[in-house]
Amino acid sequence: MADTNDIQTFVKPYLVPEGSELLNRSLETMAASFAVTDDKIREIISGMHKSMKTGLDHDDPDALPMIPTYVSGRPTGKETGTFLALDLGGTNLRVCQVTLKGDTTYSLVQQKFTITQEAKEVRLWDFIAECVGVFLEEHDLRPQPGKRTIPCGYTFSFPIYQTGIASGNLSMWNKSFSVPNSVGRDVVNLTQSAFQRHHVPVEVVAVLNDTVGTLMTSGYSHPDTQMGIIFGTGTNAAYWESLENIGKWSGPDRKGEMVVNLEWGAFDNATDVLPYTSHDNKLNRKSSNHGLQVFEKMISGLFLGEVARNAILSLVDQRLLFAGRSSEILNKSYTFDTAYMSEIVADTTPDLSTVKVVLEGTLDIPPTSLIDRKVVQHVCNMIGARGVRLSAAAMSAVLLARPELLTSSISVGIDGSMYQFYPNFERDLYAVSRVFLGHAFVDNNLKLHLAKDGSGVGAAIVAMTVDRDRQG
Ligand code: BGC
Repeated sequence: MADTNDIQTFVKPYLVPEGSELLNRSLETMAASFAVTDDKIREIISGMHKSMKTGLDHDDPDALPMIPTYVSGRPTGKETGTFLALDLGGTNLRVCQVTLKGDTTYSLVQQKFTITQEAKEVRLWDFIAECVGVFLEEHDLRPQPGKRTIPCGYTFSFPIYQTGIASGNLSMWNKSFSVPNSVGRDVVNLTQSAFQRHHVPVEVVAVLNDTVGTLMTSGYSHPDTQMGIIFGTGTNAAYWESLENIGKWSGPDRKGEMVVNLEWGAFDNATDVLPYTSHDNKLNRKSSNHGLQVFEKMISGLFLGEVARNAILSLVDQRLLFAGRSSEILNKSYTFDTAYMSEIVADTTPDLSTVKVVLEGTLDIPPTSLIDRKVVQHVCNMIGARGVRLSAAAMSAVLLARPELLTSSISVGIDGSMYQFYPNFERDLYAVSRVFLGHAFVDNNLKLHLAKDGSGVGAAIVAMTVDRDRQG
């Protein structure tokens, strides 16, 4: 099939006619390197399908992890009860008390604790126990009469190889976490031991990835949900797969279905198909998980700003931007927040006044010209557009992997800061998906839903089903 978006289509919008020829040549090269043409997306989809198939069949370090989650019952929307849920994300720990109302709706009381750097690097488990202790005390929660503990669902937003519904070994840290003596160990045990040390009467009855929580929450309100996605600090997805297709599943049941956690951030770490640039490589080389989670580093909120910073500095170094001057702030890693990118790409003022505030006010760059500001906006747009096109490619790949689903209406539950706050992210996801899933299908049958706080609510839903099964 002919490529409907060749490189030229991607390059043109990023030129600055009033800028020098040299500047425009550099922008052209940069835009071409970040371009994700339709043909490229087709290549990515087929690469992803291969990797998913291998990962479902056996564990292979070069393929997607495709982790069976032990979650095998779809929510009906009729579940009721009040449950405790913990949601450990990349930035915050949320402790929630979730009430499922049985009519596809829920309410929640939650307390958000920002995860300190010390917790990320040293004492995460004690930090979690302390926060849960505070929540129980402030909300006066205790075990039901006759019980010693409060059952709790636990969303854990890092890759764990599950060995049961309430056990799983951490395969690696990412998102700048590096708590020692944790990799390879059961995260539920580590958390539960901290609860004991801190006399917190809580028992984790289910552990799940945040994408699984998002899938379950969306399924509670929209029973046709087939997939849960996080486009946030990190990125990943989970979907319903038929057990017959999970070759590596060694449990007793081979019929029915199970949620599989793709851990798609690990797609194509070898960068065989991804449009990987020197700016990505610079980030990757300096990261604590060098060579891992490469796809995630190209699309998620923790990293996009840093890729943009690298690209901007490359133009400064060529003396094509800010008259060759940077600032102390901009010279430091991770100072160009992805939230600044959102502000910059959303600026429609004729003199790009928001861009000016971010560059001069926040990043302390010497007075900028309008050309400088246009260039920065273009760079952010190139990297943001690449992110959303890659995101849509991954979502389309998963849906296309189960073509039987594409005959009826389906919902996808999504949460995360990129989906919520990056300008036009959802609109562009729909637009790109149309090309690969078909216009009629996307317009009539595909619904993307924000599953806000989905990971916490999903943990409560799974905890509820486990608790129900236990009581027989
Ligand atoms: C983690 C996933 C998680 C995703 C979204 C990634 O860094 O590996 O387990 O689902 O972030 O939070």
